[in-house]
Amino acid sequence: MISLDVSVDAQAAGRAAAVRIGQLIEAMPRAVIGVATGSSPLPVYAHLARLVADGLDVGEVRWFALDEYVGLPPRHPASFRHVLERELLAPLGADPALLHVPDGSARDLDAAAADYERDITDAGGIDLQLLGIGTNGHVGFNEPKTPFDSRTHPAWLAPQTRQANARFFGGRVEDVPRRCLTQGLATIMRSRAIELIATGAHKAAAVCCAVLGPVTVECPASVLQTHPDVTFRLDVAAACQVQVSAPSEPNDGTADSP
Ligand code: F6R
Repeated sequence: MISLDVSVDAQAAGRAAAVRIGQLIEAMPRAVIGVATGSSPLPVYAHLARLVADGLDVGEVRWFALDEYVGLPPRHPASFRHVLERELLAPLGADPALLHVPDGSARDLDAAAADYERDITDAGGIDLQLLGIGTNGHVGFNEPKTPFDSRTHPAWLAPQTRQANARFFGGRVEDVPRRCLTQGLATIMRSRAIELIATGAHKAAAVCCAVLGPVTVECPASVLQTHPDVTFRLDVAAACQVQVSAPSEPNDGTADSP
């Protein structure tokens, strides 16, 4: 079942997700958190850093990336390992050794995918997975038509996804890798709880398909309708096709602290 939480803006949506993650970490200091890259989670990571500044201890949290490009040099600034070290771990003061990322430079990608799936299992499974959503309804890099029973696997990026991500490669779509390793839809569905962030009017149609559409591989995120604990954290623009009531927080600056 998907719960909707609509906030006035992206910052407030990110704060709401960060508060939930913070509460989980307080209750379970060794929690396993699945983390996404892209623009959507950045406000979450910024607010998590505030919670850490206010005393939240993330020293034992295990972090698992959702996906990684294939073929980027290890220290490329757009590689997801690099992005997560920069945007998540460094502001939190967390140990990079506790970050797991699929090995996109492996010679044998199938073996690297199987290793990653095993690493997640060995860690006890993901307690909470943070997701974004693509404008075509992808989650992770599970593009339309990805089977619902997929585990971590090598995948091809849709042209629409490469175009959207060109902004992380100086606007050069030709520099965006064509392949990736991604948690599969079944891997994501095994997470005990899921927080999905979608902000901006360009996400409204994908959110609508995911929440209200049929459960179909044409919209990979629609599979989340069959998960018991999913919250979509939306801003008003992303929610405009699924929601009619007022957003949950005032935009008057009073909600800055968790
Ligand atoms: C990122 C990922 C993708 C993004 C999605 C939205 O690790 O797996 O599914 O979450 O492409 O990206 P943004 O947030 O940049 O719009």
